[in-house]
Formats: sequence, structure tokens, C-alpha cells
Amino acid sequence: MDKLKITGGRPLEGEVRISGAKNAALPIMCAALLTAKPLVLTNVPLLRDVSTMGKLLAEMGVRVERSDDRVTLNATAIAEPTAAYELVKTMRASVLVLGPLLARCGRAKVSLPGGCAIGARPVDQHVKGLEAMGATIAVEHGYMHASARRLQGARIVMDMVTVTGTENLMMAAALAEGETLLENAAREPEVLDLARCLAAMGAKIEGAGSDAIRVVGVRSLGGAEHAVMPDRIETGTYLAAAAATGGKVRLSGTEPDSLDATLDKLRESGARIRVGESFIELESEERPNAVSVRTAPYPGFATDMQAQFMALATVARGTALITETIFENRFMHALELQRLGADIRLEGNTAIVTGVERLQGAKVMATDLRASAGLVIAGLVAEGDTVVDRIYHLDRGYEALETKLSALGARVVRVS
Ligand code: UD1
Repeated sequence: MDKLKITGGRPLEGEVRISGAKNAALPIMCAALLTAKPLVLTNVPLLRDVSTMGKLLAEMGVRVERSDDRVTLNATAIAEPTAAYELVKTMRASVLVLGPLLARCGRAKVSLPGGCAIGARPVDQHVKGLEAMGATIAVEHGYMHASARRLQGARIVMDMVTVTGTENLMMAAALAEGETLLENAAREPEVLDLARCLAAMGAKIEGAGSDAIRVVGVRSLGGAEHAVMPDRIETGTYLAAAAATGGKVRLSGTEPDSLDATLDKLRESGARIRVGESFIELESEERPNAVSVRTAPYPGFATDMQAQFMALATVARGTALITETIFENRFMHALELQRLGADIRLEGNTAIVTGVERLQGAKVMATDLRASAGLVIAGLVAEGDTVVDRIYHLDRGYEALETKLSALGARVVRVS
């Protein structure tokens, strides 16, 4: 199994280009199920989750063609509206096919995703919303069996903010009869990017990006061409890595407006930041100051940036409180960071991190995608060699990680 060997101690310096956002590409690929016409996507990142989604759609009869960053999806006919456990268990975002399949085919059979390393991840809000739109959903042998005549518009108030839940219901509503109001909707930029793609396909959507989304269903949707938005989490990860190592980087092809909370926290840590329309420059000479973060739905501080900021805190001046409010078990990286010499105390959903002058390289194990990113950052600042095991997690969400880090001067190699 592949491992990443990092020889730490060098500041990151140079420029890299940010890839398309994984969390926007996945729902947008599912939107292809809503139309018999081709959906052409550009700026699609080359990632394992994206190829998993491609496979899942191909199993249903969607023609998926890729060349470089361009993916063409053709769902002329859907042979089998089923998402099997074998693929769903490797990627929870697979549940995003449920709404579109139901809207287009009137039935769907989708495996329940089950738990994952960061905690229980139920889909009750997806189900509740679709039922409000007239679907019947029964769980049998680990599968959701959903059926509906034509979905009906409804007013749906979600119990909590859920990103993929909002996306699933927005896609279903696009083909429903009448008007759907989604309240307490997720405001994540990826929801807005999906709405833009759906609008280009002919959907009638207002308010995406706010907590109240109004969708007026149409009979059918057409094809479209859409460029996937840049990955704000990848951007934030390189920024945190540069801040932790005392580096100077320029990230191009990004969307600074989607990173307000992260940029504020980095400034608080002492980094100097300059932003243009599509680039961010960060410079940090000194050891960073400790900054506390509390995760929250967008526009709050992203849970997907929590592990990277914990890594930053391990070498900061002072003590930081890292509070996780979205997932109940998203501190697996804390124990691995301790193996590198970090001073971390866990109290419920808060990690109390007191910075040390230097971490020491060691063997560590990646537990989930963003936890792995935290370990990589720690490896970059640690003295000597850090070997991160199970990096298949990183391949799910970071395009060309070693290449990009090497371009920034890091000593990183993949070893088998
Ligand atoms: C998405 C992101 C993921 C990110 C997360 C939170 C994608 C593909 N993934 O995941 O990277 O970490 O948002 O920003 O976009 N919940 C329920 N019932 C539901 C749905 C969610 O209880 O039906 C709970 C979850 O357990 C969690 C919280 O709501 O505690 C937020 O989860 P949600 O926003 O749904 O996460 P995902 O959409 O799966």
C-alpha cells in the first residue's frame, strides 16, 4: 500500500494552481442524471472520488468520457437506477444520485451509506425531504427503495444544515411539479455552483447560496457546459501548510471569496495575505500565533479545514482551542499528531492544543481525507522523516498532491 514520505523542515515557497472542487464536481456529475442530453464539465479534478462517481453513474448506463479536465456525461437512457453498496460504502456522496434518479425515473434503489471514520452520517433529511415531495421510501436489506409518480413541490424545513441533503433535494425539485421551498438550506459555495449548473440546464432556481432556496420544477432539462468552481478546501490546505512552515506561496485559479473564514484565521495567526480576483498570496516568516477555531456551516469555519488548523496549532506560539461542532468523531488525527510530539488534550468536542517549538518525524496513519491533510502539514514542519500510511484517503481529494508540494519545494515522495 502506498505511503507518503515527507522530510520536513523546509518552508513552502512558490506557486501552484488550484484544481476544481471535489465537493462541487460530485453533485454536478449527478445532475447529468436529470437530462437525456449531454452535460459537459470542465475543471473537473482528477481524483479517486470523481472516478468512483463516474463508475457509479456508468453502472446505471450513463456514458462517461474524460479527457484531461473535461468530463462529458451522457444519460440518454438510464438502464438501472441502482447504486450498489460496493461503491456507496467507499464514498458517501454516492447518496447524491437518489434525488435525481427518483425525479427522472420515478424509482431508485440506493444503498444506505452507513457510518464512516468521522462518525455516524445519517441521511434522514434527504429521505424526509423526498417524502415531503411525495416519494415512498422503504429500507430493506440495507437499501433505500424509493418510488414516486411525478415528485410534487413542497415546503421543506431541514432540521439541520446538510450540504448533500440540500443538493439532493434541489436536484429532485428541479424536475418536480410546482414549487419547492428549501428552508434552513446549506449556504456552501458548492450548493451555489450546482445551482448555476442546473440553471444552465434550464432549471428555475432562486436563492441558492442563501438559507432559503426556491425551485420551480420544469418538465425536462437540457444539456449544458459548466466549469466546476475551484476547490476552497485544497486552497485552504496549501495556505495552512505555508503558514505552518513559515513560507511564501501564491495560489492561482482559486476563488478567494469562498475562503473568508479561513483567511481571517490565517491573518489572526500572523500571516500576511493578499488576494486578487482569482489568486491568494500568503507570506509568513515567524512561528504562527495560536488561533482557536470552531467549525460551523458556511460561512463559518469549515469542518473540512479543522484538521489542517489543528496541525498549524501544534507548532504555534500559545494555546488554541479547536472545537468541532459538525461531526462527533472528527479528532482521529489528534492521536496521530501526538505521535509527532504535539501537545493536545481532548475534552469532548474540543481539542486544547499547545504549540511546541518543533514536531519530530514519525510513522503515522491517515484515517480520513482531511485528517490526512493535517498529518501532511505536520510532516512538513517536523524534524526528519514522517511517513504517512494509508494515503489512499489523500488520493480521494487532493489532485497531484506530491507534484504540487514538490513544486513548492517540499521533500515528498510516494513509497510503496
Ligand atoms: C458535506 C461534504 C463534506 C463536509 C460536510 C460538512 C460533500 C460531498 N461532502 O458532507 O466534505 O465535511 O458537508 O461541511 O459535499 N446529518 C444528519 N442527517 C442528514 C444529513 C446530515 O443528521 O440527513 C448531519 C451529519 O451527520 C452531520 C451534519 O448533519 O453531523 C452535516 O452533514 P452534511 O452537511 O450532510 O455532510 P455531507 O453533505 O455528507
